[in-house]
Amino acid sequence: MLHLKSVNLEKEKVETLVIPVCEDKNIYDDRMIASIVKKARKLKEFSGKKDDEVIFYNLPETQATRVMLLGIGKLEKIDLETMRATAGKAVKKCIKSKISKVLIAVPSIKKVKLDTASLLTAMMEGAGLGNHLFDKYKKEKKLKPLQKILFLVNPDTEKAYGKLASRVATVCGGTVTARDWVSMPSNDKTPERFTKAIATLARKENLKVSVLNERELKKKKFGAILAVAAGSQNKPSMVVLEYTPKGAKKSVVLVGKGVTFDSGGINLKPSAGLDEMKADMSGAAAVAATLITIAKLKPKINVVGVIPVVENMPSGSASRPGDIIKSYEGKTIEIGNTDAEGRLILIDAISYAVKKYKPDTLIDVATLTGACVVALGERIAGVFSFDNALADAIVLSGEKTHERCWKMPLPEDYKELLKSDFADINNMSSTRYGGAITAALFLSEFVGDTRWAHIDIAGPAYIKKESAYCSAGGTGFGVRLLSDLLENL
Ligand code: BES
Ligand code: ZN
Ligand code: ZN
Repeated sequence: MLHLKSVNLEKEKVETLVIPVCEDKNIYDDRMIASIVKKARKLKEFSGKKDDEVIFYNLPETQATRVMLLGIGKLEKIDLETMRATAGKAVKKCIKSKISKVLIAVPSIKKVKLDTASLLTAMMEGAGLGNHLFDKYKKEKKLKPLQKILFLVNPDTEKAYGKLASRVATVCGGTVTARDWVSMPSNDKTPERFTKAIATLARKENLKVSVLNERELKKKKFGAILAVAAGSQNKPSMVVLEYTPKGAKKSVVLVGKGVTFDSGGINLKPSAGLDEMKADMSGAAAVAATLITIAKLKPKINVVGVIPVVENMPSGSASRPGDIIKSYEGKTIEIGNTDAEGRLILIDAISYAVKKYKPDTLIDVATLTGACVVALGERIAGVFSFDNALADAIVLSGEKTHERCWKMPLPEDYKELLKSDFADINNMSSTRYGGAITAALFLSEFVGDTRWAHIDIAGPAYIKKESAYCSAGGTGFGVRLLSDLLENL
């Protein structure tokens, strides 16, 4: 679906050519493109300013039916994200115009001063991700994704970076899988059905799949997972996906929060935005989709995904505030608030993973706290780790993929806030401040001395309004980030 191609614009027929245009400089080596840009700039309505747009039809000098020029602003401000977003916007515009094939011009590396592989990756990502629609639930599918997205490059680049296109397509595929799961309504992704969907896809990629059902969770005493699931008619489960390539030495466990719907439980959430709590399994989606992605990319590192899946509902059988439960690890937990359910299912999964796999590194991904969204806004995830090198590596992968992460503190003295009068620990802090930190500290009590990081994706996992390369709904946040991290760890 994504291809690099060198095309002779004078001779070859092209349905739609898209040219990103810089406001103050020519960024193309190709003479034909440079001359089309010059022509556009003569128009009053187009200068190359960000979001400027003009379309030429049947230009005599090319075989292109349509040439769309998109302004991207001043050269000094152009970065990889500008190019990712521009490619995404181009694809979205084409979809809306019922076009099926597009050729997007790639600027000269030297002129924009970006690295070749990074520029190509960013543009292909933007286009590949912008081509995703979530219309499964619409009777009439008004829009269709593009069938072919080509990137205009010179013959050398076409040869040297052909493999990159398939890598990017794989990562985009994983991201889209996560998006579809997150956007899916909770009535269609009960824990049982979500688990099955993960297992089916994972088996296709030859991952080792094991599923612990409710009976096994009870037998093995996953008290915290069971306590969260107690109020729902839909039974909990835990999925484990294993990728173990020959010769790999290092091992990483990824744990993802899989709450298929978070009503809050007996501490019922208010109505506003409650529908978005279908996305409370975004960590699980990111972890499962990352395993499916790396099964195709095949990096030389052992990776296990541990995914607890539950629904948090109020009912006569639900856990109550004040209840005391016993976790898999053995510590007792007072449930100060049934809406702090994510940390409960995570610690059972984390203790299990630490005991069974003894990984070098464990990373959990979760839509864990509203407090993290208050701290960092809706587009940046919080990273918590006692290991600075690990936190820095995650932040770096975030910069590369534009799945932005910001390192947050884990002050030991805040652990006091989790004291319980009756049990070993409380799942809720005694103050309403610093909720993202106390949630992370709660998790830290169950990691032992494993090198660990926690990524709170409550903000960026879901968007209400479409963006340059993502429709409204799940964003698939975490798949690009973790895929990059695992390839470079
Ligand atoms: N799933 C929520 C966190 C969340 C909030 C995700 C907004 C996405 C967007 C989580 O289970 C939760 O309810 N956390 C509580 C914790 C509190 C009760 C200690 C919160 O953040 O308010
Ligand atoms: Zn909750
Ligand atoms: Zn939750």
